[in-house]
Amino acid sequence: MQTVSVNLGPRSYSIQIIAHETLGWLTFLKSALGHTRKLFFVSDTHTTTLMQKLRDLSLGAYECNHAIIPAGESSKSMAQFSFLLDELAEFGADRQTGVVAVGGGVIGDLAGFAAAAYNRGLPFIQVPTTLLAMVDSSVGGKVGINHPKGKNLIGAFHQPKAVWIDIGSLVTLPEREYLSGLAEVVKYGVIQDPQFFEFLEQNTAKILKRDAAILRQIVARCCRLKADVVEKDEREETGLRMILNYGHTFAHAFETVSGYGHWLHGEAVAAGMVYASRLAEKKDLIPASITERQIKLLSEFRLPVKAESGWKIPDLIEVMKRDKKAQAGRLRFILPVKLGEVRALDDVTEQQVAEVLAP
Ligand SMILES: NC(=O)c1ccc[n+]([C@@H]2O[C@H](COP(=O)([O-])OP(=O)(O)OC[C@H]3O[C@@H](n4cnc5c(N)ncnc54)[C@H](O)[C@@H]3O)[C@@H](O)[C@H]2O)c1
Ligand SMILES: [Zn+2]
Repeated sequence: MQTVSVNLGPRSYSIQIIAHETLGWLTFLKSALGHTRKLFFVSDTHTTTLMQKLRDLSLGAYECNHAIIPAGESSKSMAQFSFLLDELAEFGADRQTGVVAVGGGVIGDLAGFAAAAYNRGLPFIQVPTTLLAMVDSSVGGKVGINHPKGKNLIGAFHQPKAVWIDIGSLVTLPEREYLSGLAEVVKYGVIQDPQFFEFLEQNTAKILKRDAAILRQIVARCCRLKADVVEKDEREETGLRMILNYGHTFAHAFETVSGYGHWLHGEAVAAGMVYASRLAEKKDLIPASITERQIKLLSEFRLPVKAESGWKIPDLIEVMKRDKKAQAGRLRFILPVKLGEVRALDDVTEQQVAEVLAP
């Protein structure tokens, strides 16, 4: 078992990373939840089996109930949020009741938001089952749902009491979802850790085979790197947390212009990082070789490294100007200054963006 500690004073918690074991589950729950007697599990229709396994293991020690949500981003909705609150009330949940989210980022964000809101906050346990959720969404305490006017527009900060990551659950994850999660993994190397980037370069074959030992190391390193950022900027106030948005200004534009779901988020981030890196070259921050290494690694992970030809550059730029990272319509980008270090720049011109996007 590997443990990553997230140090946030009274909201500190630990992330347990295991592979194909369930032995420590009850001990894990007890140490995370103390006197809790009731557990409310939430899964989606693709993670029900994983959820039921953990629920069955818990039955001897806890009164358990569960809700199953339709799989997909559209479940991060007011309707599903409201459904979970109804189910919690029906279950007679009180402030001691633990909410356990078993699923990808959608279930973590939705169940976490219900846990944050019900009774002014219930103890929350994350059991991420996608690579993206393991390395990104389950760490950091952001929970929420979408509004027709914007993604993640309604939400809260609600740190989990603990996170349980079983690498074994990745076995059933569809290939495209898995590869998409690898884009965020590559991101951590570029923004924070050049040795980790090299480690990825040297282990692509094992990574593509989902080798459990390698994945355990990778997930642990990514959780540590994200925790380092979150510990210094828990509520996104100092600006440090922004470095996690490397590649995301372009990604957001690709996702919006092509319609959400055309590309998976990680696919958009992969191409987005390449364009951000090209911008850094244009501003003489880095040599072209740093972009080339990212292109090579992302391509080995079968991720897109350029925008689709039909997307119009003015449309993409228009979205970027509306991005929440833009300040008063001024474009803001997180750009590498070397491998393992990025900086926020807001003196990038539309002309420069158009130039890197030009085919
Ligand atoms: N809170 C945060 O800090 C944060 C950070 C990044 C992303 N997010 C959010 O995360 C969401 C995306 O997360 P995601 O990529 O995990 O998507 P997801 O939860 O939709 O999961 C992707 C697909 O994989 C399926 N799935 C999950 N685990 C599986 C398994 N082990 N085996 C087989 N199928 C499985 C799901 O049912 C779904 O169909 C977005 O809503 C995004 O906004 C949140
Ligand atoms: Zn992302």
